[in-house]
Amino acid sequence: EKQGYDHYMLKEIHEQPDALASAIKPRLTSENAVVFEELDQSFFANIDRIEFVACGTSYHAALYGCQLLNARGIPAHVHRAGEFSSYPAAIDERTLVVAITQSGETADTIESIHRVNETDARSLAVTNVVGSSIERIADKTVYIHAGPEIGVAATKTFSSQVATLSLLAAYLTPTLGSKTASNSALLSSIAELPTAVDTVLSTADSEYVAQTLVNRPNRFFIGRGVGYPVALEGALKFKEITYEHAEGFAAGQLKHGPLALITPESAVLVVFTGDHDEKTVSNAHEVRSRGATVIGIGPDQADGPRRVCDEYIGVPSLTPELSGVLTNVQLQLIAYHCASALGRSIDRPRNLAKSVTVE
Ligand code: F6R
Repeated sequence: EKQGYDHYMLKEIHEQPDALASAIKPRLTSENAVVFEELDQSFFANIDRIEFVACGTSYHAALYGCQLLNARGIPAHVHRAGEFSSYPAAIDERTLVVAITQSGETADTIESIHRVNETDARSLAVTNVVGSSIERIADKTVYIHAGPEIGVAATKTFSSQVATLSLLAAYLTPTLGSKTASNSALLSSIAELPTAVDTVLSTADSEYVAQTLVNRPNRFFIGRGVGYPVALEGALKFKEITYEHAEGFAAGQLKHGPLALITPESAVLVVFTGDHDEKTVSNAHEVRSRGATVIGIGPDQADGPRRVCDEYIGVPSLTPELSGVLTNVQLQLIAYHCASALGRSIDRPRNLAKSVTVE
């Protein structure tokens, strides 16, 4: 069943080009128009705000999608479902609440939609599992079509969630977005995403970098823009399967406290996107001058980022808004190779379950 891979996680990481193609192909025409068969624009009539609810990796995908909406002038926020279910945001008939959940069974996320259903707000579920519980309670459902994910650590579903949310952001721009917003770079990069991920998977950089990460007291993952949710996701994946300490931060946040944790034993993984990289370069300088080992991951063509890093892993250059999907695949591989070097139970990490059906 693992088709020659040692673990489901590695198999699912390698399934990403196909999973992405399944999410993208039916929704993007050859003229780069976006179609959602499950939806029609009337469902979004009079919506003036989108509130995402999600947990864990799906929360990171929501943060990513939220940035794409805001960049197009569509007001959006993200909430952890475990908070929203008890302390919901103020919502009304002009609010669309979007629940992101791979399994469609996460109790906190389901409870959040129950709370939404007590109001006049509309709800949309984005899920991987046809016939899941979320589908029964949300007003509309969109599938990410990633195929079954067996490994407890979510991998291909994150990429497919981001691809689906990118398409959704482009779909909503003409009606909810600003007049000046443009989707052309985003849409042409979405079309290139499966091939670009395939290129990332054919490199062996992550194995080498993983060796420099195993014997450390801590590791920090930083990024800005879409690199921020990717940094959070990179750290989550790392701690889940290696059982080692890792923490993700917005790059600009380090100097407001976490910098105190940096020592010459620390490793800092810096996500570059090709957008505002000069600021992230100075954040990398801040940690390097305190002796930390700096590992950069970002677009191939990046002189400034390459200069500041001890090691740099290049990924194909896409529009910065989607480059985070590629750097995230490298971070998945880095976590995997570290966990493998440490002999961890990769597909079934201790204390964790694939879907969390209690609040
Ligand atoms: C991380 C992971 C969890 C899930 C979270 C939400 O690798 O798997 O953090 O992302 O429990 O699950 P879903 O998406 O099924 O609601």
